[in-house]
Amino acid sequence: MSDSVSSIGSLLSEGNHLVGGRWVSATKGETIEVINPATQDVLLQVPRGGEKDVDDAVAAASEAFPAWRDTSPAVRANLLYRYAEVVRAHAEEIDRIERLEVGRPSWGPSGLPNQLVYAASLADKVRGETLPTTSPDMLGMTLREPYGVVGSIIPWNTPGPTMMVDLAPAIAAGNTIVIKPAEDAPLTCLYLALLAAEAGIPPGVVNVVTGYGPEAGAALASHPLVRRMSFTGSPETGSKVMEACAKNLVPLHVELGGKSPQIVLRDAPLGKAIPTIVRSITFNTGQVCAAGSRLLVEESLRGELVGALSEAFEKVRVGPWYEEVEMGPLISERQERRVLGYIEGAKDEGAELVTGGHKLSGEKFDRGYFVEPTIFDHVAPAMRIAQEEVFGPVLSVISYRDEEEAVEIANGTRYGLVASIWTSDVGRAVRLARRVEAGQVSINSTWSRGVIGAPFGGYKQSGFGRTMGADSVLEYTQVKSVIVNGEA
Ligand code: NAI
Ligand code: MG
Repeated sequence: MSDSVSSIGSLLSEGNHLVGGRWVSATKGETIEVINPATQDVLLQVPRGGEKDVDDAVAAASEAFPAWRDTSPAVRANLLYRYAEVVRAHAEEIDRIERLEVGRPSWGPSGLPNQLVYAASLADKVRGETLPTTSPDMLGMTLREPYGVVGSIIPWNTPGPTMMVDLAPAIAAGNTIVIKPAEDAPLTCLYLALLAAEAGIPPGVVNVVTGYGPEAGAALASHPLVRRMSFTGSPETGSKVMEACAKNLVPLHVELGGKSPQIVLRDAPLGKAIPTIVRSITFNTGQVCAAGSRLLVEESLRGELVGALSEAFEKVRVGPWYEEVEMGPLISERQERRVLGYIEGAKDEGAELVTGGHKLSGEKFDRGYFVEPTIFDHVAPAMRIAQEEVFGPVLSVISYRDEEEAVEIANGTRYGLVASIWTSDVGRAVRLARRVEAGQVSINSTWSRGVIGAPFGGYKQSGFGRTMGADSVLEYTQVKSVIVNGEA
């Protein structure tokens, strides 16, 4: 294990982030320790970037912009294809870094190359249109142009995929980008930026500034030369980023988590539903914006389903990233405190603890932030455990009497990111899919599975804007109408 830790040092430049194609330390010289959440071992020091570092990165991105904008889209597409190949060739290193800093077990083949290929294939298909005119001597058309410098603030839970969701379409469309990764897990982003350079993407097109949210993050969100912003994280920080963007009148998209319902009807295919429900709240230790954290079950099925889920939860193997496990630790002590706090709060509110509920102890757990997969039954819709995003492996079971009540409970939080509906009745599935307020609804499945380019994003306070779809590249363009007067 320590071999893998020391090998991170050989893959990345200790204490440096990427500004304008150069690996540099923070201007103030300060650093942040990145730790392995399974052991608290320090993995690497990264710069504690601030206003000056962000300013340098935005300046570098601004300088790189005109040439990148004017690069043939076919060439940009080819560079992104090459980037996909480099990422594929280094998939093992990327995976190791992300597993170490996030503390997650292996997820199998990486989806990153396909994310890049998808955006690459759209780079040279950004088209405008011709417009009707009042006279044959006039010509009207639209051009789709990139914004300029894009700012991207990303969280720590799935740094690689989240970075790619912003980076790939943004640069495919001809923008340049400054990324501010989360202080808890910045290494994957640094390594992916290094690979972008290796693929031949010109210096300054991709920049990564590490640092704390209120310092580097706030400086990026309020920078006057950032022309478009993207934020993924908590609603509270999302509001602050929006405020900063409002001052500069900068458009943005925000993705802010959820309290996603798993709605199980009486006739649900339970054999399929149970493992998916377990996975959807234990995957990445529940630290996923789309985690299926609320189980809405028809009252007559509740006892049977909770029993089966409880058995399945107890079989989830928990441990450090290098073991054959399904679930690792939480990211940090702060996150552990938050999750245990919600667990205590749920008990105080009168929810019934069915399984889990504790911090794990013992030799392989003591230095990490391990919490058991947990189920609360008899949760009332108004309880905090049913309303707030825990971002941990905690499932709240809420029962309902009829479809009407199921919809009311499903829609009864401030969030609306994804939802799953489990039933064998196509009619009810369709009806519910229309009535549930969420940016994505899966019938007898889970979010984005098996569908290529399904737009992803929130309703209500889960945010706005859609990523991952065929329009994602267009989201990073603005429309210019061009009017040509050809009159003699
Ligand atoms: P956060 O929203 O504060 O952090 C996300 C990113 O924003 C990080 O890069 C952070 O450095 C940056 N940031 C923080 N304060 C900032 C500011 N004032 N200006 C600009 N950028 C700033 O999330 P945090 O504190 O790590 O986690 C708290 C809770 O947020 C979690 O328990 C979870 O419920 C939710 N969350 C949701 C995520 C999602 O995928 N939707 C991801 C991470 C957290
Ligand atoms: Mg925060």
